[in-house]
Amino acid sequence: MSPKTRASARPRTLAVDIGGSHIKAAILDPRGRPASERARVATPDPSTPAAITRAVERLVRQLPDFDRASVGFPGVIVDGRVLSAANLHRAWVGQHVVRRMRAAIGRPTRVANDADIQGLGVVRGRGVELVLTFGTGVGSALFLDGRLVPNLEVGHHPFRNGDTYEDQLGDRPLRRVGPRHWNKRLRHAVATLRRLFTPRRIYLGGGNARLIRPPLPPDVTVVSNFAGITGGIRLWEDDA
Ligand code: BGC
Repeated sequence: MSPKTRASARPRTLAVDIGGSHIKAAILDPRGRPASERARVATPDPSTPAAITRAVERLVRQLPDFDRASVGFPGVIVDGRVLSAANLHRAWVGQHVVRRMRAAIGRPTRVANDADIQGLGVVRGRGVELVLTFGTGVGSALFLDGRLVPNLEVGHHPFRNGDTYEDQLGDRPLRRVGPRHWNKRLRHAVATLRRLFTPRRIYLGGGNARLIRPPLPPDVTVVSNFAGITGGIRLWEDDA
Protein backbone atom coordinates (compact mmCIF):
# COMPACT_ATOMS: atom_id res chain seq x y z
CA MET A 1 0.00 0.00 0.00
CA SER A 2 1.45 3.39 -0.86
CA PRO A 3 1.76 5.93 1.96
CA LYS A 4 -0.90 8.04 0.24
CA THR A 5 -3.46 5.20 0.15
CA ARG A 6 -2.61 4.36 3.73
CA ALA A 7 -3.14 7.93 4.91
CA SER A 8 -6.59 8.07 3.33
CA ALA A 9 -7.73 4.59 4.48
CA ARG A 10 -10.63 4.58 6.96
CA PRO A 11 -11.40 4.41 9.79
CA ARG A 12 -8.77 6.74 11.14
CA THR A 13 -8.26 6.87 14.90
CA LEU A 14 -7.17 9.86 16.93
CA ALA A 15 -4.99 8.47 19.75
CA VAL A 16 -4.38 10.74 22.73
CA ASP A 17 -2.06 10.05 25.67
CA ILE A 18 -2.75 12.28 28.67
CA GLY A 19 0.36 12.36 30.84
CA GLY A 20 1.36 14.20 34.00
CA SER A 21 3.75 16.47 32.06
CA HIS A 22 2.57 16.32 28.41
CA ILE A 23 -0.49 15.45 26.38
CA LYS A 24 0.44 13.73 23.13
CA ALA A 25 -1.67 12.80 20.12
CA ALA A 26 -1.47 11.40 16.61
CA ILE A 27 -3.79 10.01 13.96
CA LEU A 28 -3.47 6.27 13.28
CA ASP A 29 -4.39 4.40 10.12
CA PRO A 30 -6.69 1.32 10.37
CA ARG A 31 -3.68 -0.88 11.19
CA GLY A 32 -2.48 1.35 14.01
CA ARG A 33 0.36 2.98 12.09
CA PRO A 34 0.91 6.73 12.41
CA ALA A 35 -0.90 8.67 9.68
CA SER A 36 0.03 12.15 10.95
CA GLU A 37 2.77 14.02 12.73
CA ARG A 38 2.70 13.68 16.50
CA ALA A 39 1.28 16.69 18.31
CA ARG A 40 2.16 17.54 21.91
CA VAL A 41 1.29 20.19 24.49
CA ALA A 42 2.38 20.64 28.09
CA THR A 43 -0.16 19.34 30.60
CA PRO A 44 -1.86 22.44 32.05
CA ASP A 45 -1.10 23.35 35.65
CA PRO A 46 -3.40 23.10 37.52
CA SER A 47 -4.47 20.00 35.62
CA THR A 48 -8.20 20.40 36.27
CA PRO A 49 -10.77 18.60 34.13
CA ALA A 50 -11.67 21.88 32.37
CA ALA A 51 -8.02 22.77 31.62
CA ILE A 52 -7.13 19.29 30.31
CA THR A 53 -10.27 19.16 28.20
CA ARG A 54 -9.41 22.50 26.62
CA ALA A 55 -5.84 21.28 25.93
CA VAL A 56 -7.20 18.14 24.21
CA GLU A 57 -9.53 20.30 22.10
CA ARG A 58 -6.55 22.43 21.06
CA LEU A 59 -4.51 19.34 20.10
CA VAL A 60 -7.35 17.92 18.04
CA ARG A 61 -7.54 21.14 16.01
CA GLN A 62 -3.85 20.71 15.03
CA LEU A 63 -4.41 17.25 13.53
CA PRO A 64 -6.04 16.02 10.32
CA ASP A 65 -9.55 14.54 10.28
CA PHE A 66 -10.40 11.22 11.97
CA ASP A 67 -13.40 8.98 12.61
CA ARG A 68 -13.01 7.84 16.22
CA ALA A 69 -10.72 8.34 19.21
CA SER A 70 -8.82 6.46 21.91
CA VAL A 71 -7.63 8.29 25.00
CA GLY A 72 -5.07 7.06 27.55
CA PHE A 73 -5.73 8.55 30.99
CA PRO A 74 -3.26 8.45 33.93
CA GLY A 75 -5.60 7.02 36.54
CA VAL A 76 -8.10 4.32 37.42
CA ILE A 77 -11.38 4.41 35.47
CA VAL A 78 -14.35 2.27 36.43
CA ASP A 79 -17.62 2.46 34.46
CA GLY A 80 -16.38 5.58 32.69
CA ARG A 81 -15.65 7.48 35.90
CA VAL A 82 -12.29 8.39 37.42
CA LEU A 83 -11.64 6.60 40.68
CA SER A 84 -8.16 8.06 41.19
CA ALA A 85 -5.62 10.13 39.23
CA ALA A 86 -2.66 10.69 41.54
CA ASN A 87 -0.78 13.07 39.23
CA LEU A 88 -3.68 15.21 38.06
CA HIS A 89 -5.85 17.73 39.91
CA ARG A 90 -8.07 16.05 42.52
CA ALA A 91 -11.18 17.50 40.86
CA TRP A 92 -10.86 14.60 38.38
CA VAL A 93 -12.04 12.09 40.97
CA GLY A 94 -15.65 11.17 40.23
CA GLN A 95 -15.62 12.81 36.76
CA HIS A 96 -17.14 10.85 33.89
CA VAL A 97 -13.99 11.04 31.78
CA VAL A 98 -15.46 9.13 28.84
CA ARG A 99 -18.41 11.51 28.47
CA ARG A 100 -16.11 14.52 28.89
CA MET A 101 -13.60 13.34 26.24
CA ARG A 102 -16.36 12.33 23.83
CA ALA A 103 -17.89 15.81 24.08
CA ALA A 104 -14.49 17.50 23.63
CA ILE A 105 -13.45 15.33 20.69
CA GLY A 106 -16.82 15.15 18.96
CA ARG A 107 -16.40 11.59 17.64
CA PRO A 108 -16.98 8.11 19.12
CA THR A 109 -14.35 7.95 21.90
CA ARG A 110 -13.00 5.20 24.15
CA VAL A 111 -10.87 5.91 27.22
CA ALA A 112 -8.61 3.57 29.18
CA ASN A 113 -5.81 3.74 31.70
CA ASP A 114 -2.58 4.91 30.03
CA ALA A 115 -0.49 1.90 31.11
CA ASP A 116 -3.22 -0.47 29.88
CA ILE A 117 -3.05 1.17 26.44
CA GLN A 118 0.75 0.99 26.43
CA GLY A 119 0.43 -2.71 27.30
CA LEU A 120 -2.16 -3.40 24.61
CA GLY A 121 0.34 -1.98 22.14
CA VAL A 122 3.18 -4.34 23.12
CA VAL A 123 2.08 -7.65 24.65
CA ARG A 124 2.39 -10.81 22.59
CA GLY A 125 -0.74 -12.48 23.96
CA ARG A 126 0.77 -15.59 25.57
CA GLY A 127 0.65 -16.39 29.29
CA VAL A 128 1.14 -13.80 32.01
CA GLU A 129 2.73 -10.56 30.80
CA LEU A 130 3.45 -7.53 32.98
CA VAL A 131 3.83 -3.97 31.71
CA LEU A 132 5.35 -1.18 33.80
CA THR A 133 5.52 2.44 32.70
CA PHE A 134 7.83 5.10 34.06
CA GLY A 135 6.91 8.75 33.63
CA THR A 136 5.52 11.31 36.03
CA GLY A 137 3.91 8.33 37.77
CA VAL A 138 4.47 4.58 37.66
CA GLY A 139 1.85 2.71 35.64
CA SER A 140 1.20 -1.01 35.44
CA ALA A 141 -0.86 -3.48 33.43
CA LEU A 142 -1.19 -7.23 33.73
CA PHE A 143 -2.29 -9.51 30.88
CA LEU A 144 -3.25 -13.15 30.71
CA ASP A 145 -3.16 -14.61 27.19
CA GLY A 146 -3.51 -11.05 25.86
CA ARG A 147 -6.54 -10.19 28.02
CA LEU A 148 -6.14 -7.34 30.46
CA VAL A 149 -6.61 -7.94 34.19
CA PRO A 150 -8.11 -4.52 35.02
CA ASN A 151 -7.09 -1.91 37.60
CA LEU A 152 -3.65 -3.20 38.63
CA GLU A 153 -1.98 -0.27 40.42
CA VAL A 154 1.54 -1.38 41.31
CA GLY A 155 2.61 2.29 41.52
CA HIS A 156 0.75 2.92 44.74
CA HIS A 157 1.72 -0.34 46.40
CA PRO A 158 4.42 -0.38 49.13
CA PHE A 159 7.88 -1.03 47.68
CA ARG A 160 10.65 -0.28 50.16
CA ASN A 161 11.53 1.87 53.17
CA GLY A 162 7.85 2.81 53.61
CA ASP A 163 7.71 4.24 50.07
CA THR A 164 5.50 3.13 47.18
CA TYR A 165 6.91 2.20 43.75
CA GLU A 166 5.85 5.63 42.51
CA ASP A 167 7.53 7.37 45.46
CA GLN A 168 10.80 5.69 44.50
CA LEU A 169 10.58 5.40 40.72
CA GLY A 170 8.42 8.30 39.50
CA ASP A 171 9.79 11.37 37.77
CA ARG A 172 10.35 13.38 40.95
CA PRO A 173 12.52 10.77 42.73
CA LEU A 174 14.38 10.19 39.45
CA ARG A 175 15.37 13.85 39.37
CA ARG A 176 16.29 13.72 43.04
CA VAL A 177 18.53 10.63 43.01
CA GLY A 178 19.73 10.66 39.36
CA PRO A 179 19.50 7.93 36.67
CA ARG A 180 22.18 5.65 38.12
CA HIS A 181 20.53 5.12 41.46
CA TRP A 182 17.07 5.11 39.86
CA ASN A 183 18.23 2.23 37.60
CA LYS A 184 19.35 0.30 40.68
CA ARG A 185 15.93 0.78 42.26
CA LEU A 186 14.26 -0.21 39.01
CA ARG A 187 16.19 -3.50 38.85
CA HIS A 188 15.15 -4.20 42.43
CA ALA A 189 11.51 -3.43 41.56
CA VAL A 190 11.61 -5.73 38.52
CA ALA A 191 13.04 -8.57 40.63
CA THR A 192 10.38 -8.06 43.34
CA LEU A 193 7.51 -8.00 40.83
CA ARG A 194 8.85 -11.02 39.00
CA ARG A 195 8.65 -13.00 42.25
CA LEU A 196 5.06 -11.77 42.71
CA PHE A 197 3.66 -12.54 39.23
CA THR A 198 6.16 -14.92 37.55
CA PRO A 199 5.35 -13.30 34.18
CA ARG A 200 6.53 -14.77 30.90
CA ARG A 201 7.74 -11.30 29.95
CA ILE A 202 8.03 -7.86 31.55
CA TYR A 203 7.84 -4.73 29.36
CA LEU A 204 9.21 -1.40 30.58
CA GLY A 205 7.81 1.70 28.88
CA GLY A 206 6.82 5.32 29.51
CA GLY A 207 8.72 8.55 28.92
CA ASN A 208 11.60 7.65 31.26
CA ALA A 209 12.15 4.16 29.81
CA ARG A 210 14.82 5.77 27.56
CA LEU A 211 16.95 6.18 30.71
CA ILE A 212 16.94 2.47 31.52
CA ARG A 213 20.42 0.92 31.28
CA PRO A 214 21.64 -2.68 31.24
CA PRO A 215 22.04 -5.14 32.81
CA LEU A 216 18.46 -6.33 32.49
CA PRO A 217 17.31 -9.95 32.72
CA PRO A 218 16.61 -11.62 29.34
CA ASP A 219 12.84 -11.71 29.92
CA VAL A 220 12.66 -7.92 30.30
CA THR A 221 12.06 -5.73 27.23
CA VAL A 222 12.27 -1.94 27.07
CA VAL A 223 9.56 -0.65 24.72
CA SER A 224 8.99 2.66 22.95
CA ASN A 225 6.86 5.21 24.72
CA PHE A 226 5.07 5.67 21.39
CA ALA A 227 3.20 2.43 22.18
CA GLY A 228 1.17 4.66 24.54
CA ILE A 229 -0.26 6.15 21.35
CA THR A 230 -0.26 3.24 18.91
CA GLY A 231 -1.79 0.85 21.48
CA GLY A 232 -4.90 3.06 21.34
CA ILE A 233 -6.06 1.29 18.19
CA ARG A 234 -6.55 -1.90 20.19
CA LEU A 235 -9.42 -0.32 22.14
CA TRP A 236 -11.34 -0.52 18.85
CA GLU A 237 -10.25 -3.99 17.86
CA ASP A 238 -13.66 -5.63 18.23
CA ASP A 239 -15.04 -3.02 15.77
CA ALA A 240 -12.19 -3.17 13.27
C1 BGC B 1 -1.70 6.12 38.30
C2 BGC B 1 -1.86 5.06 37.25
C3 BGC B 1 -1.17 5.51 35.97
C4 BGC B 1 0.28 5.87 36.26
C5 BGC B 1 1.00 6.38 35.04
C6 BGC B 1 -0.23 6.43 38.50
O1 BGC B 1 -0.08 7.43 39.47
O2 BGC B 1 -2.26 5.68 39.54
O3 BGC B 1 -3.22 4.77 37.01
O4 BGC B 1 -1.23 4.48 35.02
O5 BGC B 1 0.34 6.85 37.27
O6 BGC B 1 0.42 7.52 34.52
